Amino acid sequence: MRSIKSSGKGWKAAATGLALLIVIVLQALGLGAGWPQEPVQPRIDEEFAKQEKIYRRRGAGSYTTNRGLSDYAEVLPTGFCDALGNLGSSDRWLDIGAGEGQAILDYYAPQGDGTPEQCGGSGPKARVVAISIEDRREDKWKQQAASLGDRMRYLAGKRLSQYSREELGKFQIITDVFGGFSYTEDLSRFVGKVLSLLEVGGSFYTLMPGVHLESAKDKLGILYLTELEDAAGRPLRVCSWLKQTACAQVICESKSDWKRPTELLNIRKVCSGVAVPRLKLWEFEAGYPPSRRFQVDP
Ligand SMILES: C[S@@+](CC[C@H](N)C(=O)[O-])C[C@H]1O[C@@H](n2cnc3c(N)ncnc32)[C@H](O)[C@@H]1O
Repeated sequence: MRSIKSSGKGWKAAATGLALLIVIVLQALGLGAGWPQEPVQPRIDEEFAKQEKIYRRRGAGSYTTNRGLSDYAEVLPTGFCDALGNLGSSDRWLDIGAGEGQAILDYYAPQGDGTPEQCGGSGPKARVVAISIEDRREDKWKQQAASLGDRMRYLAGKRLSQYSREELGKFQIITDVFGGFSYTEDLSRFVGKVLSLLEVGGSFYTLMPGVHLESAKDKLGILYLTELEDAAGRPLRVCSWLKQTACAQVICESKSDWKRPTELLNIRKVCSGVAVPRLKLWEFEAGYPPSRRFQVDP
């Protein structure tokens, strides 16, 4: 009897141990019935630390920081160049994640006779603020900025979320090309901050690479970079989530034939009572850009 009982206990213990092991292995592989109830914090912290190194990396293996205005025109939604061209000299443009600020340098570069009209036209120039976590300014920025005084500012050393509204002021146009929008670990707070810095009637022009598109079918074999779920755990498209924001009019242009499925986004602030549906971070894997999973926080 004794031996049978003890062997029964042993069997149960072994089965429990095996079940636990399976759960651990499935979680380590990112599998299982659903996402874990809480983010796997120690691993996420390691990923955040790796991401910090990516921001600081220079030379080979570092990310692109010198896209010019013509690159911005290619990857930002329709209407960006016209909106830039319509700004007056007292209006303001904020570029989040500006890198070297090449797009701004191009905007302010004198246009010679016979050169093709560039994005934003040749009319009056708005005041511009560039922000970047790390300072990527080159001599060309310093020279141009010296001649333009405070019409061209570059702020580094902090993330968008760490600036107060008073420090930055308000803007008619905000852009983000592979900047904080693609990199932040708190997407809903980021969008809320951007909208708080826009004047009513102003627009945020950006893009989100590697997402489930609003108006195109998912292709097989895609590695998605940013994935969202609603509060019930059903897949949610980034465009549909953004469209739930109060006081924002969201226009999405789905690019299914780009290297990664990419949503181009024009988010216009239409009234002052902005409220962005809150997201919780579930997974973060460092990279350029990182891969992220969020779930709507009920
Ligand atoms: C890949 S570079 C892109 C630079 C530039 N837009 C371009 O296309 O060449 C990413 C930039 O985003 C900045 N960045 C990432 N997250 C940010 C955040 N939360 N706030 C401000 N800047 C951020 C980085 O510091 C860097 O300047």
